[in-house]
Amino acid sequence: MTDVTIAVAETQHSSPANASPDTQYDAAMRPKTLDEYVGQSAIKDGLRLALDAAMIRKESIEHVLIYGGPGLGKTTLAHIIAHHMSAPLRVTSGPAIERAGDLAAILTNLEPGSVLFVDECHRLPKTVEEILYPAMEDRALDLVIGKGPGARTLRIDLPPFTLVAATTRLSLLSAPLRDRFGHHFHIDHYTQEDVAEIVRRNSQRLGLAMTNSARLLVASRSRGTPRIANRILKRIRDLAQVSGQGMLDEQFVDSAFRRLNIDPLGLDGVDRKLLDTLISVFQGGPVGLQAWAAATAQEMSTIEEIYEPFLLQLGLVDRTARGRVATKRAYEHLGKTIPSAQDQLI
Ligand SMILES: Nc1ncnc2c1ncn2[C@@H]1O[C@H](COP(=O)(O)OP(=O)(O)OP(=O)(O)O)[C@@H](O)[C@H]1O
Ligand SMILES: [Mg+2]
Repeated sequence: MTDVTIAVAETQHSSPANASPDTQYDAAMRPKTLDEYVGQSAIKDGLRLALDAAMIRKESIEHVLIYGGPGLGKTTLAHIIAHHMSAPLRVTSGPAIERAGDLAAILTNLEPGSVLFVDECHRLPKTVEEILYPAMEDRALDLVIGKGPGARTLRIDLPPFTLVAATTRLSLLSAPLRDRFGHHFHIDHYTQEDVAEIVRRNSQRLGLAMTNSARLLVASRSRGTPRIANRILKRIRDLAQVSGQGMLDEQFVDSAFRRLNIDPLGLDGVDRKLLDTLISVFQGGPVGLQAWAAATAQEMSTIEEIYEPFLLQLGLVDRTARGRVATKRAYEHLGKTIPSAQDQLI
């Protein structure tokens, strides 16, 4: 069964009546328009221009590829595009489309002008990708009817639509698919100021009274990632309610971080275990990803996609031709002494 949900742009952001309070807050915290989408000004400018120009021409905008790490706002942007165009939005994902026929069914049932959002597009099967090429380029579906020498191709025209595809792994996308998108948007980590702005808006939505320095502290430990900032805010709200704290100051937030096991660099228990293993088990490296993953009981892809980018960004880990190494900063952060042999390497 293909996992496809259909949502109409006007109603897609309202939270279901039976959703849990956390889900309702998630819906409330998700920006609905480009103006509400904090930061990423280059992306917003490019997108606004493309959307406005397409509206003047009364056309759908060209297909959009959005790539960036988890929780940075790819799905949010796809919803905003559909909302801006007042277009019906159809949502699916790479792993949900198993066969070429599944995609053919989705494409032939699209309302004209729809936005088709394909999440995790790097996980589309090859046979499905091949159906997508003529659909994206010529708005046509090439169906093969029959088998063997008697097989023939039938071309079906499709309604105008915009494909918005998201991926955390651009390098896994085949070049022919990548090249068929008219717009490529790379969402990078947010600056601390932008995360602080998200924290300011969402603390208000959650009814939290916070000092400016408390908000900055949340922003500084959110790894430049809106989803993490929102998650921390919700946990702080739990603690504030249970302890009956009114105005949340820096001291309160700091103690909340201690309870959440998030350190001053924003590292959690898994990050610290990864660093500690690199230093204690592999003498600071270099070590291959496979051995590192096995020793920490993590999936290689989880390390590569979720944890390592932040450790690299903070300069705690380095990637060398021979493998991953812990940097001087990693030793300092964990309060470990650098062995003299390793000191030559890093
Ligand atoms: N620019 C932004 N401004 C304000 N809030 C944002 C922004 N981007 C994302 N968010 C918030 O962060 C949450 C996570 O965003 P989203 O689900 O779009 O991330 P994603 O990139 O699709 O993640 P994944 O790769 O895990 O699917 C959203 O619910 C939204 O509340
Ligand atoms: Mg998403």
